[in-house]
Amino acid sequence: MSVQWNTHTYAQLSSTQDYARELAEEGLPEGTVVQALIQTKGRGRQGRDWHSPMGNLYMSLILRPECEAVKAAQMSFVVAVAVSRAIGHFLADGHEKSLKWPNDILIDGKKCAGILIESVMDGKGIVQALAIGIGVNILGAPEGAAQLAGISKGPVAIHPFRDQVLAELSVLYAQWKNQGFAPARKKWLDEAHRLGQVIAVALPDGSCEGVFTDIDRDGALVLTLADGTRKLVHTGDVMLEQAGGDHAAGC
Ligand code: BTN
Repeated sequence: MSVQWNTHTYAQLSSTQDYARELAEEGLPEGTVVQALIQTKGRGRQGRDWHSPMGNLYMSLILRPECEAVKAAQMSFVVAVAVSRAIGHFLADGHEKSLKWPNDILIDGKKCAGILIESVMDGKGIVQALAIGIGVNILGAPEGAAQLAGISKGPVAIHPFRDQVLAELSVLYAQWKNQGFAPARKKWLDEAHRLGQVIAVALPDGSCEGVFTDIDRDGALVLTLADGTRKLVHTGDVMLEQAGGDHAAGC
């Protein structure tokens, strides 16, 4: 069954993510969507700020997949594919869309959208709810990032764009629940940024360079290092700058 989305739109919130988490903890149902036109304390991954002026999409939604945390982590790829598809509906021809591990959406190599997924756990290690935060640059973007309105087929209004994201996610979420991770994993890999090329990854304790070979069944990044060994990266950021050369230097 597809999710019934119930959207609450606010002129301004500190962070839709903080509010959606609170609502998830209070027991609001799957399908609850919190949207704000402006955020005063938008948050990105790894504690970064998400600058949130008027004109872009900022929303957080609640899903309740009732699974273990490892499996729920797959949802970050499912959501990235959904946002990418929605962007694809509006994007003008001649622009290249790609997905950067773990869940950024790039246009022409510049970040256009980011996703922040947080779990509310019960005492037994089961995910009670996911708060899924989605930010898409539509009218404005920080220096070096992409904004959809400048490279779209026509005008992009926030609410039709939001509804397109929700419609795409409904389909992909149902498919993930029924068929598991394989279909979304394949769709994600089809659009993966720099798959098969040498990439540099910022890790919590340093950095690493290797050939981006795959993502595994849990969504971990698979790097092949210069000595041929495979390294799994569970937490980190693929750097946008080109890595050193044709050959992986290692970690
Ligand atoms: C990232 O790429 O670092 C993730 C960015 C996520 C931003 C969105 S905007 C809506 C929701 N509310 C927040 O405070 N953050 C997320």
